[in-house]
Amino acid sequence: MTSTKDQIEVSYDVSNEFFRLWLDERMHYTCAVWRDGDTLETAQENKSRILYDFAEVDKTKRVLDIGCGWGANLEYVAKRGAKAAHGVTLSTAQHEEIMARKLQGVKVWCMDYANFAPKEQGEELYDALISIEMIDHLCSPAQAQQGLAVQIYRAYFEKCATFVKPGDCFGFQAILRNRMPRNRKDLEDLRFTADVIFPGGLNPRLEELVTAVSPRWEIVELHTRREHYGKTTAEWLRRMKLHEKDIRATYGDQVFDDYDRYLSTCVRAFDAHWSSDVQMKLKRID
Ligand SMILES: C[S@@+](CC[C@H](N)C(=O)[O-])C[C@H]1O[C@@H](n2cnc3c(N)ncnc32)[C@H](O)[C@@H]1O
Repeated sequence: MTSTKDQIEVSYDVSNEFFRLWLDERMHYTCAVWRDGDTLETAQENKSRILYDFAEVDKTKRVLDIGCGWGANLEYVAKRGAKAAHGVTLSTAQHEEIMARKLQGVKVWCMDYANFAPKEQGEELYDALISIEMIDHLCSPAQAQQGLAVQIYRAYFEKCATFVKPGDCFGFQAILRNRMPRNRKDLEDLRFTADVIFPGGLNPRLEELVTAVSPRWEIVELHTRREHYGKTTAEWLRRMKLHEKDIRATYGDQVFDDYDRYLSTCVRAFDAHWSSDVQMKLKRID
């Protein structure tokens, strides 16, 4: 069971205008990769560049982005060069935003990736895959407690393999759960983030992902990005606070206070090694 559509809409359908206030201009909602002198905008582009290269995309290739958010990465792929840049999201608001952008070569479906089959949508198989921090929605805390996490992640990697052809590559990124904090306030803040902001989801452990890619994918390259996510969430928080008055007036005190608590918790989580992030280059094994 993934996060349900209702749960996804809690996470992503507050309002596109709300997220536009504090994400970068293209609205990436995932860890950026920072080098000296980067802005959030250029750091987000670095992330997309790495995944484009991991997936071995070029202008002759058809790319599928699984869990494509507001289309920021699809926009990068379409502009840098691809024969087609297609995406799947479970959020109605994100789907509407991508449609409104009218990006050339970009097509998106609002549906569960698990029900997506290229042929049924009138599409050929893809040549490359990208999926950025979508797997964090696939296993609930209750399922992880029952020991089902690896099985659920393996089913995802198996399904992803059906979207492409032998030898194709996959630029994959996920938030990671590393260790639990020791005091009650920190535990409550993490639980709040999971229950209120991202209901139904759970960040995987790195070892679960490394186990679950097998037998369909070879890990060709792997980088953890803990400090990069700390910097990204700190910048989101800084930008959101600049709009505190507007957000309180338009969306209410609860929305501002909840997002302030969630983003502040993220900054601490990456700093204290409770959470991290991983990018992997995967190659289909046949
Ligand atoms: C954290 S957001 C990341 C969005 C985007 N990849 C980015 O980099 O900004 C997670 C995305 O996964 C999508 N998602 C979650 N579960 C899904 C599912 N079962 N099928 C399709 N999309 C899903 C959400 O709708 C959302 O777009």
